[in-house]
Formats: sequence, C-alpha cells, structure tokens
Amino acid sequence: MHIDIITVLPEILQGPFDCSIIKRAQKQGLAEIEIHNLRDYSTDLKHRRVDDAAFGFSAGMVMQIEPIDRAITHLKSLRHYDEVIYTSPDGETFNQGMANSMSMYENIIILCGHYKGIDHRIREHLITKEISIGDYVLTGGELAAAVITDSLVRLIPGVLHDEQAAFSDCFQDDLLAAPIYTRPADYKGWKVPEILLSGNERKVREWELEQALERTRQLRPDLLEKRNM
Ligand code: ADE
Repeated sequence: MHIDIITVLPEILQGPFDCSIIKRAQKQGLAEIEIHNLRDYSTDLKHRRVDDAAFGFSAGMVMQIEPIDRAITHLKSLRHYDEVIYTSPDGETFNQGMANSMSMYENIIILCGHYKGIDHRIREHLITKEISIGDYVLTGGELAAAVITDSLVRLIPGVLHDEQAAFSDCFQDDLLAAPIYTRPADYKGWKVPEILLSGNERKVREWELEQALERTRQLRPDLLEKRNM
C-alpha cells in the first residue's frame, strides 16, 4: 500500500512511522508512506503561505484551494488513487470496519486539515472520503492521519508476525478482546484463570469468546446491539 500524506506540519509525522511495526512494514516494502509538505506547492514562492482569511465574517484562516489542488494533481499524475481522504472532525467516524476495508486499497492520499479548515470547493471536487477519528477537536489532522495510517498498515498481510493476531483484536466481529495474561501464572497471589493453563484449546477458545462477550456487554453494549442488527 502506498500512502501519501499532505500536511503543513510534516514534522509531527516524522516520529509515528519511524519505529516498531510500521517502520518494519516500510523496510519490507509492504507499505510506502510519503509525507508531503503542502508549502512546497504554495503559489507564494517567498513566504510559502498556504492559508488565507475566510470570505464572509467568520474568524480564522482557511487552507487555500490552489496549493492543495496542485499537490493532489501532482500525485495523481504519478499513480491512480483509490481514495483521497480529508481528516476533519465532521467526517465519518473511523472504526475497525472502515480500517478493514480500506486496508485492501493500493494507493491513498490523506490530506490533513488545519486552521479553520480547507476551502470547501476542495471537499466538493477533490476529496472522496472525509474521516474523523472521534468527537473531539484536535489542533490539526496530522494525528488523525497517523492513527488511520497505523491502523491500515498493521492489517496489510505480512505486516504482523502472527496473521491471526489482527483477527483477535478488539472490534473485530464488533467484540472487545478477551483478557490476556503472561508468566508468571501466580504473581503475589494474583492468579491467571485456571482454564488458560489447561492446554485444552477448544475450552480456552470458548472461554475467550465468553469473556469477550461479557466485557463487551459491560463496557460497550452498543457494539452488541450493532452485532444483532
Ligand atoms: N482534525 C481535528 N480534529 C479531528 C478529528 N477529531 N478527527 C480528524 N481530524 C481532525
């Protein structure tokens, strides 16, 4: 998968993709993540500005149409994109189902929102999907782009050592994951559930499903309602 992220703050995105699983995925050639500084596409060669005051009476700066159009048009001349995503608090709320289907894509662009937002004509003409990572407002869309990228890349076949690991995640099947434990089996008298030490795979799997259902019932009953719909 090739992910192009367009941002006015590339430095925020330096860290998240340069360690652990996402770094390894890039080294193995399973994912390519390219960060593009929107200022490189500015029409203002001197100050590299990419924002301007909003028309009307609302306060705050707006990301200009031309640098974004230039950036997206340039990228589109290099490859075909499955989706041009805009990160914004008023987009569709991101979830595991969306991550699962988007992980099949070959190429995506993620445009990080900033300031008051982007000129609305970009949303009408260039953006194919708008995503929010939750009902709260961040200072910009960069962290949202990092969250989306991380969740997609880990689902690419070959990225996780244990392919099955992704299937037992929270939210797969709209269930929270069962509790997990490691050695020692008894720490200060805090014991690991006996069943996990039994070696009986069928019984362990049944227990895990029961636990997943119980935790979901207690913590996220809304997911069970969705499951029964
Ligand atoms: N930009 C600011 N807040 C955001 C959010 N919650 N999700 C996506 N992008 C954002």
